[in-house]
Amino acid sequence: PTDRITSICCIGAGYVGGPTCAVIAAKCPEIRITVVDRDPDRISAWNSDSLPVYEPGLDALVKRQRNTNLTFSTDIDRAIDQAQLIFIAVNTPPMPHTHGSSSMGAKPDLSAVSECARRIARVSLTDKIVVAKSTVPCGACATIAGMLRDNGQKGVGFSVLSNPEFLSEGTAVRDLLHPDRVLIGGDDRVAQDKLKAVYMHWVPEPRILTMNTWSSELAKLASNAMLAQRVSSINSISAVCEAVGADIAEVARGCGSDERIGQKFLRPSLGFGGSCFHKDIASLIWLSESLGLPEVAEYWHQVLALNRFQIKRFVARILADTSREGGLSGLGGRRVACLGFAFKEGTGDTRNTPAADVCCELLRNGAKLSIYDPRVPRHHIVDKLAMSAASNCDIDSVSVCSDAYSAIAGSDIVVVLTAWSEFRQIDWEQALKLMSQPAYVFDGQVVLDHGRLEQLGFNVFSIGRAH
Ligand code: NAD
Ligand code: UGA
Repeated sequence: PTDRITSICCIGAGYVGGPTCAVIAAKCPEIRITVVDRDPDRISAWNSDSLPVYEPGLDALVKRQRNTNLTFSTDIDRAIDQAQLIFIAVNTPPMPHTHGSSSMGAKPDLSAVSECARRIARVSLTDKIVVAKSTVPCGACATIAGMLRDNGQKGVGFSVLSNPEFLSEGTAVRDLLHPDRVLIGGDDRVAQDKLKAVYMHWVPEPRILTMNTWSSELAKLASNAMLAQRVSSINSISAVCEAVGADIAEVARGCGSDERIGQKFLRPSLGFGGSCFHKDIASLIWLSESLGLPEVAEYWHQVLALNRFQIKRFVARILADTSREGGLSGLGGRRVACLGFAFKEGTGDTRNTPAADVCCELLRNGAKLSIYDPRVPRHHIVDKLAMSAASNCDIDSVSVCSDAYSAIAGSDIVVVLTAWSEFRQIDWEQALKLMSQPAYVFDGQVVLDHGRLEQLGFNVFSIGRAH
């Protein structure tokens, strides 16, 4: 039928816009898709051999579709003009904290979204479906609709839908190809059906859920908050394990075997990082506070507080163990091999990585660091730590290594900061020979074989285990 969508524009060529449109292009050959961005470097990278986002499977997908129905461009107005449906997939960072405020809540900065809405209103000469793919708090779609109405050309109609994204970094293509669900929030049934028809090219219909706009906006924030809450829950229990002699892996298995709880997302760690969990919980806290629901705000506040506690107590444990009699007399001048720096395995992203917080604490306590991460480029590690140097991090004490053994050589202590599976393959017998004695291992991600390390003669501590 003629009213099917055949032309899409996506504003924002980031982690979400790029991979999402590559998958839509691959699954919907009759739809032409133009991904636009105000950053010309981003667009050139999408048009080059070296894409700006690394995701398994993405390279081949983009390179194939670029020759057919997928275009990356900086000509935003033209792409808007030609599209029937426009995704807004720009960033929505938290506003800087108000000075003196003790709340962990933060209103998201929706200026990029508003800029897109005003631009769409100004440029559009035909009716458009405008889809908020960015994560936004409740009410944002209504605001976008108001802006389109107030600034649009006479006689041009706009329908605004909420269609949040649930992909995870490192598995973006797989998540987009096989989503657990797709949410389409709105009050215009015809527009909802048109977007649904796009997804139905590859997503089974029962997985496409239509609902009202507020539900869809809130379900995105709530999903991230609940996932983060599971991490904080298992991490809170890890502290109890260490005190009573329980083993967190066994407790997680014991709890997760209840089908109602489930095994996923119960991996104990140094806490959650990444670009979204912090900001989306902060947004939920802000929303709850602004709705006069301080108890709800306080509940989610604790998820963030527990996340910080995990890093604090990990560093405290390193200090305590290495200061014991016969130990190293603290961290002053000691070399620490830091294995991992990304916020999680499978990605080179360092946004809100717990590793940076641990590194800064170690530096503040006088340690020298040799850092190795399989995917984070050297300059990202140095820049990230240098940015924290304002809070007295001594960046001259940091060296970045190109493999785990070079990081371990000459160190007194090994700390595991990201759960890369390659750390399990390290030959620890050889590692011990490369290290000063007594040798310490602190496993912040519960990935190593601790029994074997103890047998070899390491002093071992792992999150969630009594040693
Ligand atoms: P990103 O920073 O990688 O990309 C956003 C892009 O938008 C940038 O390239 C930027 O130049 C561009 N942009 C900003 N303002 C613009 C404007 N006015 N006009 C044109 N281009 C503009 O961000 P992202 O990680 O793709 O996240 C986008 C949104 O999706 C956020 O709301 C985020 O919360 C949400 N989200 C992210 C993920 C993730 O894994 N990264 C997952 C789900 C949802
Ligand atoms: C998360 C969500 O999983 C996505 O559904 C969502 O779309 C996305 O946020 C978003 O809105 O940006 P992502 O941040 O890429 O995706 O990564 P996750 O796999 O969720 O991991 C987040 C953090 O939690 C990582 O630091 C990870 O190491 C940590 N984590 C995760 C644990 O400590 N334990 C676990 O069991 C799982």
